[in-house]
Amino acid sequence: MSEAPYKLGLTSLARETRHEALPVEGALPPWLHGTLVRNGPAKFEVGDRSYNHWFDGLAMLHAFTFADGEVGYANRFLNSTSYRQAEATGTIQRSEFATDPCRSIFGRVMAMFRPQITDNANINVMRLADQYVALTETPLPIRFDPETLETLGEMGYEDHLPGDITTAHPHVDPDSGTLYSYTTAFGKTSTYQLYKLTPGSRTRTPLGSLSVDEPAYMHSFAMTEEHLILAAFPFVVNPLELAFSGKPFIANYHWRPERGTQFHVFDRAEGTHLATCAGPPFFAFHHINAFATGDGRLAVDLAGYPDASVVDRLFLNRLREGIGERAAADPWRFHLDLKTEIARKEVLSETGLELPRIDYARVNGRPYRFVWGTGNRVPGHFTDQLVRIDVSTGEAHTWYAEGCYPGEPVFVARPGATTEGDGVLLSVVLDATAETSFLLVLDADTLEERARATVPHAIPFGFHGQYLSGKPNTLHR
Ligand SMILES: [Fe+2]
Repeated sequence: MSEAPYKLGLTSLARETRHEALPVEGALPPWLHGTLVRNGPAKFEVGDRSYNHWFDGLAMLHAFTFADGEVGYANRFLNSTSYRQAEATGTIQRSEFATDPCRSIFGRVMAMFRPQITDNANINVMRLADQYVALTETPLPIRFDPETLETLGEMGYEDHLPGDITTAHPHVDPDSGTLYSYTTAFGKTSTYQLYKLTPGSRTRTPLGSLSVDEPAYMHSFAMTEEHLILAAFPFVVNPLELAFSGKPFIANYHWRPERGTQFHVFDRAEGTHLATCAGPPFFAFHHINAFATGDGRLAVDLAGYPDASVVDRLFLNRLREGIGERAAADPWRFHLDLKTEIARKEVLSETGLELPRIDYARVNGRPYRFVWGTGNRVPGHFTDQLVRIDVSTGEAHTWYAEGCYPGEPVFVARPGATTEGDGVLLSVVLDATAETSFLLVLDADTLEERARATVPHAIPFGFHGQYLSGKPNTLHR
């Protein structure tokens, strides 16, 4: 069996550490005062069992704290119920994205009536109701202290909004601080339920909802200044099968290309369902941006795949052997016409990307030019470069280094910036040769390296992070 050169990025990290100042090459921007908090899986085995999929591993938080030209680092496991039960029993106790606990027939029946859904919030972090929380796709945000990374327990909502799963990618209006998101409630008839959450509140206000027979797997959604858009890909589940198949969560979803992709468009203020635009079958994890283009038309940009087979390519055994193909999606724009209810595809660039980020506070929901993301230079080398794509021209800049595997580039605007993209990118990079990771700081415009700070160990590949400027009281998406 071959072994991928980046395998260390999919290897468990047991060590929890704290370093006041990492060794830095180059110069950190003097204005960088804040903390990058990142989330991702860091423990892929429990007892003698391994989780099946990259998305299953137990969550660890990593914090890079910048002050006065120096950067500190700390990492700590998220002390979720899933984590505590795994540690206490030495066995996998909760159902993850693609891994189920081993259960006897009796255990399965009991689990059906008392579902042990996971709170292993390993996907993202954000500020929610004045708390810092780790998020996954079950609606159980876990609070943490951004300075110590200590887990503070589940953040309960003060409402009874229905929903079995949700997204770890809510949107936030940067002016009002209002959060927008949705849940999917499974049932004989299932429902997509949009909601908003005003700052400081733990009561979600329902916006629109839509009944569907077979709900789609949707990892994220789109928001313009006036619309919320759910892209329902033809990767769908029969809720009865989900309840009774005995298979892990995602194994119940099936690719049904004949259904095409349905873009459900809602009015953001009222929640009214405005239109459902029909598009070709495709799949995406991540939206990039969306905006109105006038005359009842919207542009919805995302990192698209021809189908949902990427979910299978991210099983740990396949990833660790080397996937042998390009590890990136393509930047696609769908032009939605709310009158004809048709969605037409445009390719924005020949350069692929994943884990896309934009200058969110400045351009989300509005016309924009730049998206940054991970990319793939050598097929089979997983994410071996960072890209900046100008979506108005398709032109791309890249950063890469031999034997290095960068993660999601988080854009941080320079204080006082007046133009889109004036700032830096922060990315955690695995140096497979040195067997360590480093925090990379790039000029967001040119992708030229400004600094790197080396961590004393390899950090497993994570998913998403957010930058908290100054003292941790503002957390950008
Ligand atoms: Fe994501």
